[in-house]
Amino acid sequence: MRISVFGTGYVGLVTGTCLADAGHEVICIDVDAAKIQALQQGHIPIYEPGLADLVQRNLAAGRLHFTTDAAWGVSASLLQFIAVGTPADEDGSADLNYVLAVARTLGEHMQDYKLIINKSTVPVGTAEKVQACIQATLSQRQVNLDFDVCSNPEFLKEGAAIADFTQGARIIVGTESARVRELMSQCYAPFLQDQPQKLIFMQVRAAELSKYAANAMLATKISFINEIANLAERMGADIEQIRLGIGSDPRIGPHFIQAGCGYGGSCFPKDVQALAHMAEQVGYRAHLLDAVEQVNHQQKQRMFEKLQDALAKTQGRTSLAGCTLAVWGLAFKPETDDMREAPSRVLLEALWQAGAHVQVYDPQAQAECARIYGTRPDLDLCTSIQQTLMGADALLICTEWQEFRQVSASWLAQHLASKLVIDGRNLYDPLAMQAAGLRYYAIGRGD
Ligand code: UGA
Repeated sequence: MRISVFGTGYVGLVTGTCLADAGHEVICIDVDAAKIQALQQGHIPIYEPGLADLVQRNLAAGRLHFTTDAAWGVSASLLQFIAVGTPADEDGSADLNYVLAVARTLGEHMQDYKLIINKSTVPVGTAEKVQACIQATLSQRQVNLDFDVCSNPEFLKEGAAIADFTQGARIIVGTESARVRELMSQCYAPFLQDQPQKLIFMQVRAAELSKYAANAMLATKISFINEIANLAERMGADIEQIRLGIGSDPRIGPHFIQAGCGYGGSCFPKDVQALAHMAEQVGYRAHLLDAVEQVNHQQKQRMFEKLQDALAKTQGRTSLAGCTLAVWGLAFKPETDDMREAPSRVLLEALWQAGAHVQVYDPQAQAECARIYGTRPDLDLCTSIQQTLMGADALLICTEWQEFRQVSASWLAQHLASKLVIDGRNLYDPLAMQAAGLRYYAIGRGD
């Protein structure tokens, strides 16, 4: 099939590339000329394992095209994906300007039937707005053309996006039309193999709400386990044992109940807030969503609070002024360089506010850290984990990179003179850490 994808951000690029790799002819359109030029050369602007190879392979095969020419994108394809950003407004609601700009572009250039597929995460009712916007643009042109708009939310995780797209648990399509069902079945046929039930058709509004409900449910699991972790700390129980205990019940499941220093990223924080905002607009106070958000906000402060307590307890220090801290992990999770809403940022900013000096290391997000914070005297971007530990009064771990997991207690004890570790991701065995002479503070594992 011929498919156009508007937006070469994270979702658009993964969608376009995976569809091309499945054999479709794909045109990716973006207004950013520099980005398009780089993509035409096979250079991708984000870090996502496997994506660069896939882009290059499909460029070489002539199945994947990048362009700023929206008119070409519209006229060349029957299927038109909208995958542009929906940043959060001040009040937490999703900003639809980019989505509606694409809708206008479609209305301006279409000459025959098009199926418009919305992949951006958008509030319930947006498909109707896109429909109205295209219709209004067509009316201005005084033409009457047939088109459909459906909702097809994405469920990609950064770091695992290709597998999530090609072998995801489900593909949701919101439509009431038989023609759209047929076209979308063709589009996704290469990913269904012998599991046609993975393609789920539903109402447009149900599809739009499913996206928010899925992310809100996952965020709820995380805030729930973090709340239990905070209780476990006070009650002398180990959250890691509790996690295994409750996760073995299939009704609860083992996923997304890893306690830590809070969830970050471009999705959970934004989507939980946007859903709470949508609830308000329909006259409903979503108490649970508010609490999920509040617990997460609080959880992101835990690393700093634990450090303060530990320094007071072990070194009698009441101020962090003049302290040097090693921080491992800047990205909001492993296998990405993304620092949006990352717990590390809350920690770094609190440390600087308290007058501390910070020595950081992340396998991927160093450049992003420099971009966000610039060069500053109280920030050292180190080239290795070992370098961060030199002269450090404590080590703080914000991201569960494999490289950090592999470190042994004895290696840490040897290189960290202060022997103080605050682990926001529960990477190590507390007994092994203690045995190596380290003072180890984790999340929900007693203090
Ligand atoms: C999330 C969803 O998992 C995807 O299904 C969805 O498509 C995507 O948002 C989106 O809306 O685009 P992502 O933000 O890439 O994906 O990252 P996750 O792997 O879900 O992790 C989010 C945060 O939760 C991270 O900060 C992670 O450290 C934290 N987390 C996750 C925990 O603290 N504990 C857990 O048990 C799991």
